[in-house]
Amino acid sequence: MPGFFCPTNFITLAFKSNFMYETIQIVHSYLAYVVLAILFLAVANAIMGWVSNKMFTMEKDLRLSLFALIFSHIQLLVGLLLFFISANGLKAIQSLGMGGLNAPARLLAVEHPFINIIAIVLITIGWSRHKKFMEGRKKFKSIAIFYGLGLVLILSRIPWGQWFN
Ligand code: HEM
Repeated sequence: MPGFFCPTNFITLAFKSNFMYETIQIVHSYLAYVVLAILFLAVANAIMGWVSNKMFTMEKDLRLSLFALIFSHIQLLVGLLLFFISANGLKAIQSLGMGGLNAPARLLAVEHPFINIIAIVLITIGWSRHKKFMEGRKKFKSIAIFYGLGLVLILSRIPWGQWFN
């Protein structure tokens, strides 16, 4: 049957969107390991630099903090995409309403996206602030505090049960 209403068109479309959702969900899921690991390293490195009053180097300290920033931003974009196409994101809010979501559904659709956006804003503020300082100690302090807060917020709203299932 020719034309847009041909059933095969709908099947192809459904298959494509399902494939797209699954791919993005897998990317978001694996990228989470990279983001958490790199953020953890950046925070640990900044705390050590701050406490022991080290010099802030371009090769190691700047690179590590920049990679943590870039990967968190990529995860933010992938997460936003997922929020709009996943049945556990915006669609869950639209179909059940805010009040209709139980605790695990609320974590996925509301708390995880909202808190993670705030966390990535904090990480971005930490990065911008560190550039204003000349002194290594102040640079490390800005990264340690803002990236650290971001990391704690991210860890507080990971859907652990679903991730490891
Ligand atoms: C650094 C930030 C983030 C980390 C580490 C992270 C991590 C994760 C993990 C581990 C999962 C579970 C994946 C799985 O079931 O295999 C998940 C699910 C999800 N994330 Fe994120 N995420 C982040 C940011 C975001 C943001 C900013 C949004 C949206 C604005 C978002 C939206 C979602 C949605 C909608 C799901 C549920 C997907 C589904 O089950 O269909 N995430 N995230």
